[in-house]
Amino acid sequence: MTNDKGRKAMQLPDENIEYSYQRLLTQPHEAWTPTTELQGQHFLAQEKLDEVKQWVMAVRGQIAAERELQNPPAKMRPLQAGFIDLPQKMLDHYKRKQDASELGKLLRLAQRLRDNVDRVVVLGIGGSYLGGKALFDALCHTYHNEMPAKLRMGKPRLYFEGNNVDNDTLQDLFELLENTCVDPEIIEERWGVIVASKSGETLESAAVFRAVKAEAAKFYGPKSETLRELIVPITGTKTKLRDLCKAEGYPDEDILTIPDEVGGRFSVFTAVGLLPAAVLGLDVRAMLLGASTMTRRFIDEPFERNPVLQFAAVNHLMTERGKTTRVLAAWSKKLEAVGWWYDQLLSESLGKNGRGPTPITAVYTRDLHSRGQQHQDGTRDKLINNLVLRQAKHPPVMVGHVDRNEDDLNQFSRRSLQDLMEAAFQGTNEAYVQGARPTADIVLPVITEHTMGQLLQMLMLATVVEGRLSGTNPYGQPGVEAYKANMMRILKSQPNLPKGEVRDAAKGV
Ligand code: PA5
Repeated sequence: MTNDKGRKAMQLPDENIEYSYQRLLTQPHEAWTPTTELQGQHFLAQEKLDEVKQWVMAVRGQIAAERELQNPPAKMRPLQAGFIDLPQKMLDHYKRKQDASELGKLLRLAQRLRDNVDRVVVLGIGGSYLGGKALFDALCHTYHNEMPAKLRMGKPRLYFEGNNVDNDTLQDLFELLENTCVDPEIIEERWGVIVASKSGETLESAAVFRAVKAEAAKFYGPKSETLRELIVPITGTKTKLRDLCKAEGYPDEDILTIPDEVGGRFSVFTAVGLLPAAVLGLDVRAMLLGASTMTRRFIDEPFERNPVLQFAAVNHLMTERGKTTRVLAAWSKKLEAVGWWYDQLLSESLGKNGRGPTPITAVYTRDLHSRGQQHQDGTRDKLINNLVLRQAKHPPVMVGHVDRNEDDLNQFSRRSLQDLMEAAFQGTNEAYVQGARPTADIVLPVITEHTMGQLLQMLMLATVVEGRLSGTNPYGQPGVEAYKANMMRILKSQPNLPKGEVRDAAKGV
């Protein structure tokens, strides 16, 4: 294991993400044992994989062609393949149009927020939240919000809300803001908002936005220009949120757009993910470059060098074999929110018509002390995709040598936490092989904007390939509509009166 400095000195040639699945292939020439018998039942035969390769390549061709379809036939709808080429298009457009491009616009608005506030509340749910959260957790300091302003180097603190209708978390946020932000003239006490909703009418984020806007109006003054400057909307092309902002006098260049042809959970490389990232000073161009590189690998590379096709084929075949619970085991706490993001991606894309794998996010080694028992010994319905981080960012923390050795750790005094992690990784996966529990590895060389771009794009592309392989349209989420319609009906059937005490701020500013 090396740290950042070591990495630079070694001049690593690239930071490509790979998918390694050899561990879950059966070994055809091994002598019969109860273990090989079990592995035969639960692992994958190389021939099986070889059989689907041609099919997977054909599906790749079909997906590549779908990108060009302007007016798809009814049976192909919804079709939202815009995310595939979006990263490169964003970069190209920025190169040509600079500030007038969508990326230029979002960089300008990000800079405005950074220059004017110390806290940003990000409102959004589902695809309008999870990508930004995944990037924040992976790429920022773990205790970013707790760090003093100087150490944050001008990067505002970030809070995610509007991803629920949770009364008490929102009131807690207001309490925090009211107690820490008293004088709107002082930059350290100012706060701004990013509100993201592609449809512009999701009840959770829309209702919370009203309350947050009222809170901001209380702080800056109801008629203050600042409200328009420090509340940045991201929405679809024709939505109620856009109408609202226009009615409030927003100029077009201050409203960021999620393109129609990009679905909500595929929108991390629109302003939805990129604006919070840019506010945090992350290199969004490197992210887009990583994503675009993954698209190119997907389109151009043969199966053997194509992590998208490999991941899709292996995961599809294992689902067909009854491994319907798909665990994304992140070997870094920094990557847990990538798992939450993937939970939505997989659930809403493939969980249709009584079919589709169930995603579960685990963080190892933490969850080896909770879910570990079940993964090793429970129902044989799981495929575990390890999300492995090859290289830590910071210098190693050593176990160290101490005089009081009652804990018996001096024997490992020259080992680092990374060494312990590596031993846990090997030990866990050996145990899984012995127990005929299939596992494979998504290998992330290091966490950077570039690798995060690759990773998220890889999982989005692979999910679309899986959808096409299983005959499920990966776009759209008709199942989500049922609860929304019921919720609206129930609300409308009740009198429009509050049940409890009403907070001042929510009395309609
Ligand atoms: O994938 C999708 O489109 C959905 O899950 C959305 O991300 C989610 O419902 C939030 O929608 P919106 O961004 O329109 O508020």
